[in-house]
Amino acid sequence: TTRAPEPHSAKDKDTFAYKTVAHRLPVILTKAIDTTCRRLKSLVESGVVSSDHRLDAEQEMKDSIGRMAKLRNELQTDKPFVELVSTAPDVHIWNRCLSDHMSEFRCEPKWFTTSWLYAECYLYRRVREAFQLTQYVNTFDPFSESKEEALKSSIHAIEVLTEFMRTSFATKDTDIETEFTRFIELSLWGNKCDLSLSAGSQTNQFANPTQDLIQMRDFIIDNHTKQLWHFVDTYRSSSDGLQLSLVLDNSGFELFTDLCLIEFLETSGILNDKSVVKFYVKSMPWFVSDVMTKDFHWFLRYLCDDSNTHSSAVKELAHKWTHNLKTGKWLIIDDHFWTLPHDFSQMKTISPQLYHSLSESNLIVFKGDLNYRKLTADLKWDLSVPFDTSLRGFLPTTLCSLRTIKADVVVGIQDKQMLQKIHTFADNWRETGDYAVIQLAIKQ
Ligand code: F6P
Ligand code: MG
Repeated sequence: TTRAPEPHSAKDKDTFAYKTVAHRLPVILTKAIDTTCRRLKSLVESGVVSSDHRLDAEQEMKDSIGRMAKLRNELQTDKPFVELVSTAPDVHIWNRCLSDHMSEFRCEPKWFTTSWLYAECYLYRRVREAFQLTQYVNTFDPFSESKEEALKSSIHAIEVLTEFMRTSFATKDTDIETEFTRFIELSLWGNKCDLSLSAGSQTNQFANPTQDLIQMRDFIIDNHTKQLWHFVDTYRSSSDGLQLSLVLDNSGFELFTDLCLIEFLETSGILNDKSVVKFYVKSMPWFVSDVMTKDFHWFLRYLCDDSNTHSSAVKELAHKWTHNLKTGKWLIIDDHFWTLPHDFSQMKTISPQLYHSLSESNLIVFKGDLNYRKLTADLKWDLSVPFDTSLRGFLPTTLCSLRTIKADVVVGIQDKQMLQKIHTFADNWRETGDYAVIQLAIKQ
């Protein structure tokens, strides 16, 4: 067997890894600090604390701001990573990572020399710790405002999509595989909307979903949709129904497209009465826009609320989805493994219960860029390395990745023509989210 390559790291100056650590992460931190400063004065009004605790809570917010400012300074001056100090259950795992790094490399990890994946995850974990060390603002999420704003600004796109869904379910003139392809692609491109990349600015996508999707298809540089269809189609005729796990990525518009995909799978009989859909979410604020349990509920509440959308069809859908959660047909599951710096090949050792839970389903769909980086360990793989190889043994069950490309790692490009075509792309093609992959690994 060949040795696995090195991880991507900010030590390579010409990579997106470097740009992120040097330029993008400080901006994200500054925004988190600004939001916290702004929210400090309205803690009581927004229901974070009761008026009895206003002063204590304000002081704690200031302490948290201080910790984030210190973190930004550590990042910008490339200081060594330090141990986490709170008593949360994942802390010993993070601290073990630090000591493992020290024994392996004989020095502490630093922002610009350790792996990009470790550095970026560590940053978000430290932001969490800034609030975790407080009593009254412990659960404060410095990104919740941007997640909520993002959903509000995509309401029009959500209405357009809802209409698209209603008409496509009503007309019988498109075949079911074509429909499936559309909903997969919708959920795929929904992933363009993460806020850590766009720093908050959203464009309304899918003015005309059917046409837009066809135009964007050329940008999917490795596309296993056909194989995926053949896989799920077998469940249409089985009485058991597909057991599906969806490892979610971003809140807001992307989550909406993910739930539309599930809606399609139900309507088409691929999911049936015996199917349970498990949604895996983050247990702390993560990469700005990732979904937490509370964001999922907020999202549904917002769409159910009469004053927020003109379309009764959107509200109906949101009510139906809320009902699915109540009856247990849908489960939201959070687990701290998703917010560790480990890649997925380490899941079986670090979080065996999670691995087991995933292996109970027939199919796992991994959404987004970060999940892809963790599937492939964010290593400097050759473009042509098979997707299965890059997983290094991680295959709890058949899995697929729907990912718009927003980081350096890309694998599975075996088509010679495509490899040639990639040479004609702009230099920054891996950084924009304009290109994508739909990749499948089948468990035999
Ligand atoms: O810009 C790239 C980035 O911030 C990466 O650091 C990260 O992998 C990704 O965006 C997050 O994107 P997604 O929400 O698709 O996982
Ligand atoms: Mg994300």
